[in-house]
Amino acid sequence: EFSWKLADHPKLPKGKTIGLVVLDGWGEANPDKYNCIHVAETPTMDSLKKGAPEKWRLVRAHGTAVGLPSEDDMGNSEVGHNALGAGRIFAQGAKLVDYALASGKMFEGEGFKYIKESFDAGTLHLIGLLSDGGVHSRLDQLLLLLKGASEQGAKRIRVHILTDGRDVLDGSSVGFVETLENELANLREKGVDAQTASGGGRMYVTMDRYENDWGVIKRGWDAHVLGEAPYKFRSGLEAVKRLREETGANDQYLPPFVIVDENGKPVGPVVDGDAVVTINFRADRMVMLAKALEYENFDKFDRVRFPKIRYAGMLQYDGELLLPSHYLVAPPEIERTSGEYLVHNGVRTFACSETVKFGHVTFFWNGNRSGCFNPEMEEYLEIPSDSGITFNVQPKMKALEIAEKARDAILSRKFHQVRVNLPNSDMVGHTGDIEATVVACKAADEAVKMIIDAIEQVGGIYVVTADHGNAEDMVKRNKKGAPLLDKDGNIQILTSHTLQPVPLAIGGPGLAPGVRFRKDVPNGGLANVAATVMNLHGFEAPSDYEPTLVEVVDN
Ligand code: 3PG
Ligand code: CO
Repeated sequence: EFSWKLADHPKLPKGKTIGLVVLDGWGEANPDKYNCIHVAETPTMDSLKKGAPEKWRLVRAHGTAVGLPSEDDMGNSEVGHNALGAGRIFAQGAKLVDYALASGKMFEGEGFKYIKESFDAGTLHLIGLLSDGGVHSRLDQLLLLLKGASEQGAKRIRVHILTDGRDVLDGSSVGFVETLENELANLREKGVDAQTASGGGRMYVTMDRYENDWGVIKRGWDAHVLGEAPYKFRSGLEAVKRLREETGANDQYLPPFVIVDENGKPVGPVVDGDAVVTINFRADRMVMLAKALEYENFDKFDRVRFPKIRYAGMLQYDGELLLPSHYLVAPPEIERTSGEYLVHNGVRTFACSETVKFGHVTFFWNGNRSGCFNPEMEEYLEIPSDSGITFNVQPKMKALEIAEKARDAILSRKFHQVRVNLPNSDMVGHTGDIEATVVACKAADEAVKMIIDAIEQVGGIYVVTADHGNAEDMVKRNKKGAPLLDKDGNIQILTSHTLQPVPLAIGGPGLAPGVRFRKDVPNGGLANVAATVMNLHGFEAPSDYEPTLVEVVDN
């Protein structure tokens, strides 16, 4: 018989206030000048590391430890926060889509059958991130989907591309578009009318998240759906090359463009009777577009036209909103998360971040579920992010404000768990601006200090960790670890996440004497943190959770 009731921990007390800090994009790597965490002044994190060896360790945050297909897959916030919150490792979107394509199940599923009904009379539109980053989407999956869809009868296909440069090197968009357009040319030889139709840079067009800036989605809507954009080209390759050269924009921020025919007419607006698939498996940056494509009632911007289409997501992006209602692959079923258990066991929770990471400590933490489980037990606070800027110009972001809210929540003694995400090292790391990233790391470290100080005041416990690496390595390296140079002799800036492990530190006056990290889980990863935190709240974790990382020795 299932019960939400957790067993009491035999040795650890209940009722302590736990300050749970997730530093976004803060990994552990060798010290050198491209390690911004090393270069930055980070006395708080340094002291946690140097302080007590049995209270600081590394945990794995990439590859199979977080449910990704291989050990070559860098970590990311979705899978990292899923693992932290759910306490188990679920096969994630990237892997589930791989299975569905390899087995052919994708093309037999309800979602594909639904869009297939449009193949005779309408166009199939594929919209999504074009790269091999493996964080939101993968180019090889897109190519397999194109192949499968044309074999299943799609006669007219239009691809709407969002260039990356964030999960992959800047400038790599050119190669990805080339690969895609070669494949589209192959399809044309086989009689399928297939081409690129529109696009733009992911951070400026279509892929905003957590409703930070609807203007981003509107630019995408205008280009993909209405066929309207300030720039017009004859091919995707021409678009990407010329926009990079002529506007100076990088891959992340390319302006919106449409592809036109010889008469200057857009080749692929979305019209009544068409089918649309958003090819990203990751939810956060597709939810806003999914709402615009699916919701009859919608007031975030003027859609001008709302075509009657058959729309499916690669996955269902929100399990609570059931959005979109049609999808090609069922998402991982991340149920019985630690947040839900704790709410059922009397643990009061406060969760906070700024907009760009707010869903990370709420939606992702709770297994891709929006909203809280029980509003009487939980308070989720979003601090508005600055919008319309790249965060290298404001590297401190809202770290101080987040820390102040966390401090106030801790000092109020109303909550047992005060959980925050500090975005700086990740968001600024993604800009590739090394100097700004150093400032970002310092700001995050100061925020950690403020939270730890508050924990000291109430006799609580702190748990400090991260979701994946980023700022600790800002340069692309060869296999031996030496920085790679481009053809002009400049280093290649690494804007993406890394494969590095992340720190996990525990401490504070409320930590019972004798609590220390076990030595027998050397390969522990982010998924082990949930059971650890449950123990510190005074409970045993459910038996199917990944094992706790702490033990209590009698002194
Ligand atoms: C993004 O969406 O900003 C990046 O692709 C991944 O960053 P995150 O996983 O840290 O959110
Ligand atoms: Co990131």
